[in-house]
Amino acid sequence: MRVGGGFVAELDRQRHEVAAPGDWTYASAPESRDIVHIRDRYGYFIDGEWLEPAETYETIAPRDEEALAAVGQGTPADVGRAVAAARNAYADGWSSLPGSERAKYLFRIARLLQERSREFAVLESLNGGKPIKESRDVDLPLAAAHFFYYAGWADKLEYAFPNRRPRPVGVAGQIIPWNFPLLMLAWKLAPALACGNTVVLKPAETTPLTALLFCDILRQAELPPGVVNIVTGDGRTGAALVESEDVDKIAFTGSTEVGKAIQRQLAGTGKKLTLELGGKAANIVFDDAALDQAVEGIVNGIYFNQGHVCCAGSRLFVQESIYEPLVAKLERRLSTLRVGDPLDKNTDVGAINSAAQLDRIRELVASGVEEGAEIYQPPCVLPEKGYWFVPTVFTNVAQSYRIAQEEIFGPVLSVLTFRTPEEALEKANNTPYGLSAGVWTEKGSRILWMAQRLRAGVVWANTFNRFDPSSPFGGYKESGFGREGGLHGLEPYLRFDE
Ligand code: NAI
Ligand code: MG
Repeated sequence: MRVGGGFVAELDRQRHEVAAPGDWTYASAPESRDIVHIRDRYGYFIDGEWLEPAETYETIAPRDEEALAAVGQGTPADVGRAVAAARNAYADGWSSLPGSERAKYLFRIARLLQERSREFAVLESLNGGKPIKESRDVDLPLAAAHFFYYAGWADKLEYAFPNRRPRPVGVAGQIIPWNFPLLMLAWKLAPALACGNTVVLKPAETTPLTALLFCDILRQAELPPGVVNIVTGDGRTGAALVESEDVDKIAFTGSTEVGKAIQRQLAGTGKKLTLELGGKAANIVFDDAALDQAVEGIVNGIYFNQGHVCCAGSRLFVQESIYEPLVAKLERRLSTLRVGDPLDKNTDVGAINSAAQLDRIRELVASGVEEGAEIYQPPCVLPEKGYWFVPTVFTNVAQSYRIAQEEIFGPVLSVLTFRTPEEALEKANNTPYGLSAGVWTEKGSRILWMAQRLRAGVVWANTFNRFDPSSPFGGYKESGFGREGGLHGLEPYLRFDE
């Protein structure tokens, strides 16, 4: 007894001697940028060669506004050259290549992306501002997975569409945004190439660098010249691509405003069009949900990629009976998010992509305060240089407020309440958008009931922001039309006429 008692006392004494750490701040853990070589200047990648641009602009790092490289501001003539190269490559073999041969190129691209993934992840975070842990663990693996997935379809199109004679459309013009630069490139290129089309792709003006580095993968994969052409520049370059006579299909991801303009422009031309536009997703939490799990899903839903996500869960609907505990848990969780250098492996929330986007977020947040919502922002030290916004929660939000209606595309959540499933549904669907939604409940029957009635292209149950190349993604209403991913994602790149 005495021995045992003495042992316990000894343990107890030792425990008291170990000072409890009073400070839980993380030491910085920066990822080295040495792995990636950035050239001073980039041209356009046309017909397998670099074409010198007449006019350039600086692309910067949003974390500190460092100028990274000069890139071309593509003119209509540059776009015309790229389209002509794509047309030649289409007629000159690519469209008639057996699917099994096209698949080999796509498999090669996928493997090369995996091999060079760290290099791409660092460049993506540097040029776009997203945390390295996201570009490393989400953007890069998913981009490679898209190429693997569509490589698998390339020689099976007749099985995908039996008795329908699937054939390529021709030259595809693809315009992509800055929130997932390389992943959106993969979403666009992989199905287009698998189906036998050739491509002219325009990256977003603030994030051209991973697309330009990707040209080196095309070279390594020995993709025939002209099958993929990349022309950088701003909206004017995109508009020139849309206007180009010899493009058979436009695929656009970006703002609803530009999407509408493109649709008007293409009306009556016979060109195929898919639009993936904005969103204002409802994330709905019922009182029987596992709250801690839901809090993680809410945080991932809106603070992932600084909220620069078209399917972000930006409207949180909480059943009234759990409103207080849920908001308390959420606010506590927010105070543990680490905001800062995108290249630091501990960072949860990185830099806002551009000065223009930061202005837009600030303006909408100010409107929320002015209209009467209650704002919560955890204490947070932001870097001095660069573009930053503290993760924000608004409570006391009315349906009519701009922060409940408009896409903010930043780390800003609006919390609303409901009492019954019918009310949750009505409020969730009360939006011009319809890209995604989330439902949190223990009840399977309720998940199915909600999922059937939510007007959203994707409905997540007890999770959020999960992506898989085999699962189609796309919108209702002003979120656009057409699907990317899965078997559905092949269709926009095929024609079935005789
Ligand atoms: P944006 O729609 O202007 O830009 C997206 C792409 O379209 C870029 O490559 C841009 O150069 C190109 N573009 C711009 N004007 C064009 C035109 N007239 N013709 C052809 N291409 C054109 O989006 P922006 O201005 O960068 O962001 C504004 C808002 O749009 C954001 O705050 C966000 O709410 C929303 N947005 C939604 C995205 C999504 O994933 N659905 C992506 C980017 C922005
Ligand atoms: Mg714009």
